Amino acid sequence: MASSLSVLVLLCLATAAKAQLSPNFYSRSCPRALATIKAAVTAAVAQETRMGASLLRLHFHDCFVQGCDASVLLNDTANFTGEQTAFPNAGSIRGLNVIDNIKAQVEAVCKQTVSCADILAVAARDSVVALGGPSWRVLLGRRDSTTANISQANSDLPAPSLDLANLTAAFAKKSLSRSDMVALSGAHTIGQAQCQNFRAHIYNDTNVNSTFATLRKANCPAASGSGDGNLAPLDVTTPTAFDNAYYGNLLVQSGLLHSDQQLFNGGPTDRLVRTYASTPRRFNRDFALAMVRMGNISPLTGTQGQIRLTCSKVN
Ligand code: HEM
Repeated sequence: MASSLSVLVLLCLATAAKAQLSPNFYSRSCPRALATIKAAVTAAVAQETRMGASLLRLHFHDCFVQGCDASVLLNDTANFTGEQTAFPNAGSIRGLNVIDNIKAQVEAVCKQTVSCADILAVAARDSVVALGGPSWRVLLGRRDSTTANISQANSDLPAPSLDLANLTAAFAKKSLSRSDMVALSGAHTIGQAQCQNFRAHIYNDTNVNSTFATLRKANCPAASGSGDGNLAPLDVTTPTAFDNAYYGNLLVQSGLLHSDQQLFNGGPTDRLVRTYASTPRRFNRDFALAMVRMGNISPLTGTQGQIRLTCSKVN
């Protein structure tokens, strides 16, 4: 008897220890949360298409640093430096005001109930849908951190200069597979990058289509320091549609970032790139599955962390 009871207790503990996110987390506590977020995202994307890309990236930059805990949204304080001045984020992440605005609308329907981390996850999904991509059920119940980690933002957010082995390692560090990495990189079917992030690729790498390189060089001078912030679409074919054209570009050596073209460079991921280029349904399915896995990276749950009142600061 005693032993079967202790087995039961152990089982319960094991279940409690594993973070439990659920798609219905707010269905009683805030039934209007999801519709409120969707309406706000749809409006923001209608006003500026690129915002869909920026919101998707914010969720990624949140999850890869301390897990999906909205740490990326915290401003610097006297006690810590936030993540927004980390190299991959500085002058690059966008959409913080849109998230603040969504949070204010959600607070107006349910006081201190919906976390900023969950708003980021839902906004990422709604952005993809708004631009024509696949949908998925977002798992919910994340809570918000009370700290940020600028050094982890610098070390764990992958740089565009990485090669395939290091890209794979960066995702493995977050328990994501090489296949997840190939599928998630399909996010680069939307949005834009600055010249400073693709200059070395178009000028120095040899695995670049020459017509494509010429096109991009026209607005990205060779000299570092000049035109650093000039923008180019990550997907040269259909820059604002969430589709599989990103992979088709890789097949003809027209990936914008060095890291993009690494996925199709004679290595072990070539096969999956070909599959996604030829089978949009496979890409849509795998992207959605991988987004759910990325959204599961070490969330705070239960009584951990807090539900922030304002996403940019700790309560
Ligand atoms: C595989 C490793 C990755 C690297 C090295 C990488 C790197 C970059 C870089 C350098 C930019 C341009 C930033 C700028 O110039 O301001 C960018 C933009 C972007 N990234 Fe990634 N990224 C990666 C993976 C991902 C993932 C997993 C997602 C989402 C699931 C994502 C979503 C985006 C989006 C949507 C943009 C455009 C943002 C905008 O236009 O505001 N990236 N990425």
